[in-house]
Amino acid sequence: MRDKIVAGNWKMNKSFDEAEELLNQIVDELEKNPLNEDVTLVICPPVIYLEMALDLVLELDCSIGAQNLSQFDDGAYTGEISARMLSDMGIDYCIVGHSERRQYFGETDEIIAKKVLKALDQGIAPIFCCGESLAEREAGIHFDVVKRQIETALWNLNADNLNDVVIAYEPVWAIGTGKVATPDQAQEMHAFIRSLIASKYGTEFANEFPILYGGSCNAANAAQLFSQPDVDGGLIGGASLKAEDFLQIARSFPIQ
Ligand code: PGA
Repeated sequence: MRDKIVAGNWKMNKSFDEAEELLNQIVDELEKNPLNEDVTLVICPPVIYLEMALDLVLELDCSIGAQNLSQFDDGAYTGEISARMLSDMGIDYCIVGHSERRQYFGETDEIIAKKVLKALDQGIAPIFCCGESLAEREAGIHFDVVKRQIETALWNLNADNLNDVVIAYEPVWAIGTGKVATPDQAQEMHAFIRSLIASKYGTEFANEFPILYGGSCNAANAAQLFSQPDVDGGLIGGASLKAEDFLQIARSFPIQ
């Protein structure tokens, strides 16, 4: 059975006090009512709150992730945070290649490929994001786009390394828009991604590989998405900013 993962991407939201409050709400709720053992919860707050987050979830079965890392090791790169700095703190996951990083910060497939390697070098699991824009879907090239993104960033990895990667399929038109992909659209792309992995790394490997859906996933639609055979969880933006919604999403997997 594959790992189930729900990761919350807070993006650039929350004041210090609000971040502390949200983390405390999540911790309280998890203490009262833990998640199923087979669900991994990852919280990715802004980097400046990582230390607080690590402290607050210390006793819980919950991972903390970053939202970005540098493609460089160290040196004169003002404003950057290296994979080693994150790993020294005890960070387990890092979102890499989010479409907002591609769109607003000029991240190319090649830069993202370097970031994936830096994360893996430091024992951080990259949550690698891919997904097409609305124009690309309307042009019917969404499969080609996702294939290119995955091949450029991940195909240089051996199976041992890829084993530590999580893929999040996030159609850009669904992110923050309230326009969620239908369960069929998500399943179709997830099955395609799994088939790509199978053709390069083998069916057995692909069958164990976690693929998350992201883009307007919320407490009301998560159960339907997570019931699709190739959807192994979600990368959650807006709905991760409310403890109740976020945890309800993490409880939306079908009962086995
Ligand atoms: P959203 O964002 O859930 O707010 O659409 C998802 C993401 O960008 O990871």
